[in-house]
Amino acid sequence: MRFSSSVAGVLSLLCSQAVAFSLRGRDLESFIAAERAIALQGVLNNIGPDGSQVAGAGNYIIASPSKEDPDYFFTWTRDAALTMQMIVDEFIFGNTALEKYIDEYIKAQAILQTVSNPSGSLLPSGLGLGEPKYLANGQRFNGAWGRPQRDGPALRAIALMTYSDWLLRNGQSAKARNIVWPVISNDLSYVGQYWNQTGFDLWEEVQGSSFFTVQNQHRSLVQGTKLARDLRVTCTGCDQAPQVLCFLQSFWNGKYIVSNTNTNIARTGLDGNSILGPISVFDIDAYCDSLTFQPCNSKSLANFKAVVDSFRTAYSINAGIPKNQGVAVGRYTEDVYYNGNPWYLITTAAAEFLYDAVAQWRARHVLYVDETSLAFFKDLYPDVVVRQYNSGNYNSPFEQIMRAVLAYADSFVAVAEKYTPASGALAEQFNRDTGVPLSARDLTWSYAAFVTMAERRAGQYPRSWNTRQAAAPPATCSASSTPGVYAPATAAGAPNVTIACQINVIFNVNASTYFGENVYIVGNTTELGEWNADVLNTALALSAGGYSAERPLWSVNTFLPAGESISYKYARQENCGQPYLYETQNRTLTIPPCGGAAITVEDAWTGPVGTSGGC
Ligand code: NOJ
Ligand code: NOJ
Repeated sequence: MRFSSSVAGVLSLLCSQAVAFSLRGRDLESFIAAERAIALQGVLNNIGPDGSQVAGAGNYIIASPSKEDPDYFFTWTRDAALTMQMIVDEFIFGNTALEKYIDEYIKAQAILQTVSNPSGSLLPSGLGLGEPKYLANGQRFNGAWGRPQRDGPALRAIALMTYSDWLLRNGQSAKARNIVWPVISNDLSYVGQYWNQTGFDLWEEVQGSSFFTVQNQHRSLVQGTKLARDLRVTCTGCDQAPQVLCFLQSFWNGKYIVSNTNTNIARTGLDGNSILGPISVFDIDAYCDSLTFQPCNSKSLANFKAVVDSFRTAYSINAGIPKNQGVAVGRYTEDVYYNGNPWYLITTAAAEFLYDAVAQWRARHVLYVDETSLAFFKDLYPDVVVRQYNSGNYNSPFEQIMRAVLAYADSFVAVAEKYTPASGALAEQFNRDTGVPLSARDLTWSYAAFVTMAERRAGQYPRSWNTRQAAAPPATCSASSTPGVYAPATAAGAPNVTIACQINVIFNVNASTYFGENVYIVGNTTELGEWNADVLNTALALSAGGYSAERPLWSVNTFLPAGESISYKYARQENCGQPYLYETQNRTLTIPPCGGAAITVEDAWTGPVGTSGGC
């Protein structure tokens, strides 16, 4: 038995009832049933303030209880929204006890939207909504990070709109309109205003355009169009949906989806990004030729094969696994984070993708195999040819193909099972050579991803988000934008922040540093940590992205309160925990009055020079 004694009883009960299944099927069935319950509880344990694993957290969904190696004791907008989407779905499928978590999320996110942060603030133009993460108590996080990340507002809006749609159908449209919509509206405004600007991808590493982000941005605007109509409110930004759909097509290179574009990284572009995207926009009612890249779409399938195949040779634990069986899947093969390993949430996402595709073919009663998708099917059903397969009886080619795809899906779950410890705990990654769990323990997103996979396998599908009514893209794409309308969602619990007018300030400082040394700004304002000695968590980090032999440039692009006079200085963080080194004198800066243009401050480090601790 792979589980603790408390679940063993449930398991043996399930096993004894499942005699009709094959041995493999029976094992997997009972694993999924037990793990689904563990996973849902694993999520709830990581939600503050009462979650058993996150003592001290505020009312937020924490990414993981891990506080070091890595420190994930923060709330990420993306992780939290994807997790809340799962909770909303579970609630709608009948787990009514979960509604309190939804209500708490609405309130907490309304507050978080108003927290000014290094990406900016809610007022006047929504820039703060692009901040990727906050401290576990909901305060701003000042550390260096890949920001902004523009998937967060779209994903949060999607989770809240899915719940609002339920409210509407259950006699609570006033709550949807007055309490939830104002939160959603800020996020959709952000999407409509900034979708065409680059930002960091979901892995927080690449600045550019990310398929996953754009795909979810499109969904959010289409779903917003429908919800706004139902609630008789205005969606600012939703008019951008056709343009976003137009842009989405550009990620396809004729063979697969290039997950990151408008960037100059040296990678193939094959990335779990493009498997996670289709499952988060899955619509059971969608046509497979929809331009939204549904799981059953030929391009999505060709891409699925390309991405999965790239991992067959990347990890030694995948060696020798035949092409019709699932493997361990990671972010992208060039990954070096923890040496680059498979992730639980991406491996189960591969299974979910295939369950979704089968559900869509069965719902449409037809499968069109074309030149684009042929190779995907060949691996699973060698007799396949380019043609239309109509649904039929158990022995029809259509049903044989469906069973082959489902078996393929199950084999990805079996990989996740193989590397899941007896406790059922899901970390972020598992070792590419040994399969041993790695990186953050009890990752909330790993658990949420397991539950959504299990829902789809069990035939539980969220309601349509209206893909069939999505407006067609224009013949020529253009880089458009709709100015957003932003206001604190006070009815949901946001503080009534007023225009804390901010000015865009770029600090450039020349500071020759050794590899491993970092530079921060400390100062007398909230944004700069109010001279707090805990520099790491309160000061503003600079980036060495523009550092070169010619110019030892450290830089940060931030927002500071208009009209204030501030004191600040730069600090160096040493590499082995030696004390911080500060500049010898304070500097002063007067921020221009409200409405002023961006300013750039050019400084040169004046003070002690650091030495490596040689650790
Ligand atoms: C932390 C990020 O969350 C992760 O995605 C990234 O791979 C590492 N930093 C390395 O940059
Ligand atoms: C690193 C992942 O790359 C990123 O997607 C995630 O948001 C954070 N970890 C937190 O789980």
